[in-house]
Amino acid sequence: MHCLEGFGDLPMKHFYITTAIDYANGAPHIGHAYEKILTDAIARYKRQRGESVHFLTGLDEHGQKVQKSAIEQDIPPQELCDRMAVVYKELYAKLGISYDDYIRTTEERHKEVVRDLQQKLFDKGEIYLDEYKGYYSQRAEQFLQEKDKVDGKWPELFGEVTEITESNYFFTLKKYQSWLIEFLEENPDFVVPSFRQKQVLEFLKEELNELSISRPKSRLEWGIPLPFDEEYVTYVWFDALINYISAIGYGTEDFEEYWPVDYHVIGKDILVPAHAIYWLIMLKACDIPLPRHILVHGFWLKSGEKVSKSLGNVVNPLDYIEQFGPDPFRYFVLREMTVGQDADFSHERYMSRYSGELSNDLGNLLSRVLNMTQRYTEGIIPEATMEAEPEATLKKEYNHAAAKVIEAFDAFQFSVGLDALFTFFKAINRYAETRAPWKLAKSQAPEDRELLTTSLAYMAEGIRLGVLFLRPIMPEIVKKVEAHLAIPEELATLIIKETPVWEFKMTGREVGEKVILFPRPE
Ligand code: MSP
Repeated sequence: MHCLEGFGDLPMKHFYITTAIDYANGAPHIGHAYEKILTDAIARYKRQRGESVHFLTGLDEHGQKVQKSAIEQDIPPQELCDRMAVVYKELYAKLGISYDDYIRTTEERHKEVVRDLQQKLFDKGEIYLDEYKGYYSQRAEQFLQEKDKVDGKWPELFGEVTEITESNYFFTLKKYQSWLIEFLEENPDFVVPSFRQKQVLEFLKEELNELSISRPKSRLEWGIPLPFDEEYVTYVWFDALINYISAIGYGTEDFEEYWPVDYHVIGKDILVPAHAIYWLIMLKACDIPLPRHILVHGFWLKSGEKVSKSLGNVVNPLDYIEQFGPDPFRYFVLREMTVGQDADFSHERYMSRYSGELSNDLGNLLSRVLNMTQRYTEGIIPEATMEAEPEATLKKEYNHAAAKVIEAFDAFQFSVGLDALFTFFKAINRYAETRAPWKLAKSQAPEDRELLTTSLAYMAEGIRLGVLFLRPIMPEIVKKVEAHLAIPEELATLIIKETPVWEFKMTGREVGEKVILFPRPE
């Protein structure tokens, strides 16, 4: 057990953050990658803020879709899942996703908790057997009602809808409806951004249906059998949602070090009803404390359409990673998408941010500083010995940007924070143009020499402080900057409690060779 210093035996609560677990039936695309990058940036930033972070992601392996894909590929479902786990994990390794745990719903540690909870709910009478007659969408793995039709037809997203009659086990949602409404009204910041919480309350205006939590084995084999009736397997959501607690040892002493979760990060399509209704009621019914927040991101679109496998318009992150490395991709998606809103992926915008902000504003700035330090001060970062207006202005710009970045990153508004940060990198470039050390170098006058050395010191300190905030966003690139600018470990790993101080920490350090951070694409 980890203990908080000075708090005796009180267990320390980690900052616990999760992503949705990806369906094992298809290959990853930008939507999956984005969510993991967003969560990773939060996790890395929180670590930088001094928190002990536990970051969970994983794979959703049961259900009809996986069974169907396995049949199509003529392999056992477990084999399909094993292969997909490798594919997803390889992508996330390439993207630098720093998760602490990866849960797969076919693992015994997960199945055990699912069975345990179901038995508990069954014993309490919250789960009961009933007959169901009605419509079923295989694609959505969901029972439907007449009211789900639009203009008398089933919407495209449900695929083929068939009429069925079967006995199933149900979990009572209705009984918790007014409690849930009250909870959300009392906790207006529960779903982030708040307009998504309004959507949940909107959904709750209509009476909830009971939730069928089982599927007869005759129709679906690939699932966790119900502990009290082996003829049925667990409905995929009732299985998948439980990953958030099975992974952290629900039922053991460790559990309270993590739970309640600080943020469940999910896409907008699985907020209602899955996370905001099913999950919250499941927890309440089991007497488990509720999550602290749900963070909902929007969708990546391409030319206005949702990016999805079935539409065949996927953006493969691997194409971008192979050509440009992982960090520009991480930067792009975080810079481009306002958390909560949809965003359009366009190659032109990608290229414009790559050659503009990354290559020009940051890459060239570093090369210039390294180059000039080599040429004019024998590779040693000089001392700052004066401060005139341009220097004072640059410092002011730093303080302004840093405050804005911290405020934005604290609210997970990476796009806003990065905008402020790159405004600062631009300011360093402007400062370089103002002082023009390459012109000063031609003069023998002592005051010009002083201006030259001072300006190099200012630029180096600016870059050191600027890249500190880039660590959660572009960890590999920042490592390169640190190596070439000779930023020592203790400065690079600074815990950010408040605005890091401008204090010329780089004076006297010997820089490395010039480096091209963002090579021109072929
Ligand atoms: N397996 C369920 C989640 C269970 S969580 C207990 C699932 N899987 S998924 O593979 O379809 O989606 C995984 C995550 O990716 C979801 O949060 C989903 O919203 C997100 N995205 C899928 N396509 C997306 C985009 N085009 N854009 C952004 N994210 C989207 O749902």
